[in-house]
Amino acid sequence: MGPISAPSCRWRIPWQGLLLTASLFTFWNPPTTAQLTIEAVPSNAAEGKEVLLLVHNLPQDPRGYNWYKGETVDANRRIIGYVISNQQITPGPAYSNRETIYPNASLLMRSVTRNDVGPYECEIQNPASANFSDPVTLNVLYGPDAPTISPSDTYYHAGVNLNLSCHAASNPPSQYSWSVNGTFQQYTQKLFIPNITTKNSGSYACHTTNSATGRNRTTVRMITVSDALVQGSSPGLSARATVSIMIGVLARVALI
Ligand SMILES: *[C@@H]1O[C@H](CO)[C@@H](O)[C@H](O)[C@H]1NC(C)=O
Ligand SMILES: *[C@@H]1O[C@H](CO)[C@@H](O)[C@H](O)[C@H]1NC(C)=O
Ligand SMILES: *[C@@H]1O[C@H](CO)[C@@H](O)[C@H](O)[C@H]1NC(C)=O
Ligand SMILES: *[C@@H]1O[C@H](CO)[C@@H](O)[C@H](O)[C@H]1NC(C)=O
Ligand SMILES: *[C@@H]1O[C@H](CO)[C@@H](O)[C@H](O)[C@H]1NC(C)=O
Ligand SMILES: *[C@@H]1O[C@H](CO)[C@@H](O)[C@H](O)[C@H]1NC(C)=O
Repeated sequence: MGPISAPSCRWRIPWQGLLLTASLFTFWNPPTTAQLTIEAVPSNAAEGKEVLLLVHNLPQDPRGYNWYKGETVDANRRIIGYVISNQQITPGPAYSNRETIYPNASLLMRSVTRNDVGPYECEIQNPASANFSDPVTLNVLYGPDAPTISPSDTYYHAGVNLNLSCHAASNPPSQYSWSVNGTFQQYTQKLFIPNITTKNSGSYACHTTNSATGRNRTTVRMITVSDALVQGSSPGLSARATVSIMIGVLARVALI
């Protein structure tokens, strides 16, 4: 058997040669056309403020521009366009009255809400072709909104577990903390108290803060824990009482 590796020997290049080849390629690589890019200024816009989407590296002699909301170019999601020859501005279906397009293709968005979180794309029309920017995503800082505490029950029986969860819309996500009767408990989104007694009745407050917006909101839930044996305060019973009253009313209406 002849040496199997013989044919590959012909292609063996000393590593010095490879390095030389690589460096020559690097050297000979023509300078790449600067890529069309979008920069959001500021990069983190607070809700209600304005943000400028700057277009960098515009091609030479463009004919016009279009801005789109979304990752793909879709005529239904065109925000606004600009034709350079006659300086004509043409709003599209996704125009919200808060956008301004400049002759340099940059887009100003006023009052940037949480629904405006990207992506956005810019199309540059050239005489022969069109260029598209990579999608840019706006980061809109907002919240926290008033937190919701779940589940929504306010009456509990002694002996069960209290398992409360708090949620508030916020970007970046808010920090959570709990207090009971005004006394701080813990920095968590959930509050778990096993085997509650009537002494656990009180006002349960969930605090949320967003360090980026500097805002905070609190929601308070009054919770009543009844002794399991005292059935009068059971919400189930009161619901049943309501049903029997309703039936009584209906029966009387039927009699009349
Ligand atoms: C525009 O697109 C053409 C063809 O796809 C490409 O050669 C050129 O580099 C692009 N220009 C910019 C500024 O992205
Ligand atoms: C485009 O024009 C706007 C408004 O004049 C300006 O604020 C912005 O800096 C310009 N963008 C670039 C990339 O020069
Ligand atoms: C608390 O309730 C959540 C659902 O809301 C559940 O996923 C979780 O396991 C519960 N925790 C405990 C300790 O029971
Ligand atoms: C709950 O607490 C009561 C006293 O308050 C105790 O008798 C009972 O064993 C506890 N139950 C559980 C499951 O820990
Ligand atoms: C909260 O206050 C009420 C009324 O003063 C009291 O009955 C209850 O035990 C308190 N709850 C806690 C968990 O301290
Ligand atoms: C919560 O926000 C109010 C203004 O809305 C401010 O006065 C207060 O100091 C804030 N509290 C905390 C704990 O950040």
